[in-house]
Amino acid sequence: MRILSGIQPSGALHIGNYFGMMRPAIELQARGEAFLFIADLHALTTVEDPAELRRNTREVALDFLACGLDPRRACFFRQSDVPQVTELTWILSNVTPMSLLEKCHSYKDKIAKGLAPNHGLFAYPVLMASDILIYQSDIVPVGKDQKQHVEVTRDIAIKFNMKFGGGRGILKVPEADIRDEVAVVPGLDGQKMSKSYNNTIEIFCEENTLRKKVMGIVTDSLPVEAPKDPEKSHLYALYTLFVSRDEARAMAERFRKGGLGYGEVKKALAERMWSYFAPFRAKRAELAKDLAFVEDVLRRGAERAREEAEKTMKAVREAVGLR
Ligand code: ADP
Ligand code: TRP
Repeated sequence: MRILSGIQPSGALHIGNYFGMMRPAIELQARGEAFLFIADLHALTTVEDPAELRRNTREVALDFLACGLDPRRACFFRQSDVPQVTELTWILSNVTPMSLLEKCHSYKDKIAKGLAPNHGLFAYPVLMASDILIYQSDIVPVGKDQKQHVEVTRDIAIKFNMKFGGGRGILKVPEADIRDEVAVVPGLDGQKMSKSYNNTIEIFCEENTLRKKVMGIVTDSLPVEAPKDPEKSHLYALYTLFVSRDEARAMAERFRKGGLGYGEVKKALAERMWSYFAPFRAKRAELAKDLAFVEDVLRRGAERAREEAEKTMKAVREAVGLR
């Protein structure tokens, strides 16, 4: 089974990224052959400063390795180190109806947020399809917001196979893997946690920052005595990510009973978060001292990825008549 996922180096990774995408992908590395990459070509749609793109790429590599990506098991690489992926993007563009891309929420959201509607932003899902299809992936672990992109990928693969495959599946049709229990991690304000909403808690932020952010989580103004509905509280939802099921249940009980202040929950949450990521922080500090190792992991990953990509491209070039 081949598992593939990517993440854009467009800023420091937050706990939404961690529970929505990184942890599921890292868990899957034990169950199959994982291909995980840093989507630096995709990041060009939003990051305009070259120094920032370089820095972010290095930081994301450190974050991923610190969080448990094992380079002996998984193939970890930079998207742009596999030029075949942009070649496939062009070929797939020719079987991608405009209407398919026009429907994409992510594109519409970005335009609504004020990004200039350029071709890169519009064609983003075709590059993503190419990422997935070039490695013949079976499973794509992503957060819920990427579900539509995986559906677009499936459509493109099916269209390509019908047009050029003559009944053969030249490109494997992948499945998204979305964990329901953490499909959307809420941010400080209760909306989806996202760097574009300014409501994130970074996995590797300073202790003070973490505490301040957690204390700033928006809650309703019910007094301490009042019974509270845990299901309606994003503070509770965040808490459940860091504790056992039993502890979550006990906390839900205390919410319902009344007599629980949000301040107390926030304090407990900040502590649990800090200790949850403690081993990763230690690992990250070690890795940061050996950037040559990190670079080497990415280089070796890219070699492996190019080999796989080239296999698919041979068949694709032949199928469309480029060879
Ligand atoms: P952001 O919204 O901060 O820009 P990205 O769009 O770069 O994050 O997302 C990277 C990965 O993390 C994707 O797989 C996405 O689905 C997942 N992800 C991002 N935010 C969340 C969240 N709040 N809950 C669950 N998964 C998330
Ligand atoms: N679009 C994804 C995101 O913003 C990143 C990504 C690029 C990706 N290519 C991919 C995710 C291929 C999974 C598979 O999060």
